Amino acid sequence: MATLQQLLHDRLAAAFASVAGEPVDPSLRRSQHADFQADAALGLARRLRGNPRQIAADVVGRTRWDDLCAAVEVSGPGFINLTLADDALGALLGAANADDRLGVPLAAEPETVVVDYSAPNVAKEMHVGHLRSTVIGDSVVRLLEWLGHRVIRANHLGDWGTPFGMLIEHLLDLGGAEAAHELSLGDLNTFYQAARAKFDSDEDFKTRARNRVVALQGGDEQTVRLWRLLVQESEKYFLSVYDRLDVRLTGADFFGESAYNDMLPQVLAELDRLGLLRESDGARVVFPAGFTNREGEPLPLIVRKRDGGFGYPATDLAAIRHRLHTLHATRLLYVVGLPQRQHFEMVYEVAREAGWLRPPARAEHVGFGSVLGPDGKVFRTRAGATVKLIDLVDEAVARAAALIEEKNPDLDATERAELARTVGIGAVKYADLSNDRTRDYVFDWDRMLSLEGNTAPYLQYARARIESIFRRGATAPDRSRRTVTVAAPAEHALALHLLAFPEIVAETAESLDLHQLTGYLFRLATLFTSFYEQCPVLRAEDDVRASRLVLCDLTARTLARGLDLLGIGAPRRM
Ligand code: ARG
Repeated sequence: MATLQQLLHDRLAAAFASVAGEPVDPSLRRSQHADFQADAALGLARRLRGNPRQIAADVVGRTRWDDLCAAVEVSGPGFINLTLADDALGALLGAANADDRLGVPLAAEPETVVVDYSAPNVAKEMHVGHLRSTVIGDSVVRLLEWLGHRVIRANHLGDWGTPFGMLIEHLLDLGGAEAAHELSLGDLNTFYQAARAKFDSDEDFKTRARNRVVALQGGDEQTVRLWRLLVQESEKYFLSVYDRLDVRLTGADFFGESAYNDMLPQVLAELDRLGLLRESDGARVVFPAGFTNREGEPLPLIVRKRDGGFGYPATDLAAIRHRLHTLHATRLLYVVGLPQRQHFEMVYEVAREAGWLRPPARAEHVGFGSVLGPDGKVFRTRAGATVKLIDLVDEAVARAAALIEEKNPDLDATERAELARTVGIGAVKYADLSNDRTRDYVFDWDRMLSLEGNTAPYLQYARARIESIFRRGATAPDRSRRTVTVAAPAEHALALHLLAFPEIVAETAESLDLHQLTGYLFRLATLFTSFYEQCPVLRAEDDVRASRLVLCDLTARTLARGLDLLGIGAPRRM
């Protein structure tokens, strides 16, 4: 099933090609002056040294339009303005109505995509930065999976490296049982900071910690067992957070830094063989092309440290190689905060120079900004500590419960609790996803939980309200109905917007700017409100009523699907 925009695009492209004698991208877009506008005549006129208005008129005259458009006009310097015919919109809506995918096609060429996200660190608290990575990554995964791609979720857990020496020694000091207790409660910061404090103040402890790292790297059995205990307890805790957040990460998705440990010597050897390794201050490094410091000196990516150990950059080199060569992924996504941009750009460049990363494979840093408090500074608790992710979730749910209680006091306790969870978590996720992800945003409880404006509760409420229309009318949506009558301007506007869903989904899957999708959904809810104000539904006569009910149903389904792609539930009642 072709989308509306595709139909117009193909028709225009053929007409342009027949005028130009070569393929031309019609450069079609939505417009305020008509439904769509194409302005390729301007560029073509420059190339052909012709009159753009004349060229536009020729293009328009080349083909029939009446099956799709009510009006096709040349305007201004040579724009082609297209106004869709209501009948054509009605027929396309009828087709979407019968389609579970709402007219959104599966990817023509499904890819293997690795999404690297969440990635908290063992024995350390997950903070709001991990919240962003988890929420954005989860939505990216849902979107790409729904389009038919094979998605591999890579939770690049920080489970290896020098801090484990002190963490294991601290565990021994505490005793295994007590340590497991602290960790499973999610009291990770207390644990980490206690270890850190001893490391900084106690020489003897420091020595033990250093020896412990050596034992860990050497595969000493008891040490590895203790390390595994730390990892397991932390994983349990992280899984409980994922569950509370309602994200799709499971225990099977943990593929932490330690998983690449055995590959590191090979990576080093291969880079050496390729002639990419240099010696720098006793370390073995690669100088990827195009990276320099402020003094203009080349910047190294350290593969093996001076002490012989491998660190974070080496692990990412092994990971990228593994994802390309072993997993055969063609799209690698890294959902990590913007401060790590340069690190990833350097890793990609080394991977290109090594010949691992070659088209069609590509790597993208899906970077994001920070979460700020009301004071515009990095988000902290009143006591000045970093905010625990799980506390945010709890508070969101509690606030949502109060909101629901006030709105709908008759709900029974179970339903209210379930609803509070969906609304509260939805609000937190939506506040994150509806902001341009590369910007910092201010965490604002009142705004995100408001029933008005561009928020999850507003969209959830819009969906529930449509469901209540069906309940009041004692009728179910008719998905077999293939004809929809579009007549009133509000119906025309709503129809056009509904039919743009496939393009929005495709564009968002490309840009991974999820606020494109949230903006679309918000506008959909607004257009529906105008439609509902201007066009009676249940009070209308037979055919008009049936037809308007399809518009209601399509809006509800699009809202629910869109929210689902964002990882947000859409209750039928609120
Ligand atoms: N654990 C890291 C952190 O908390 C993020 C890891 C991101 N992924 C990666 N492949 N480096 O900052």
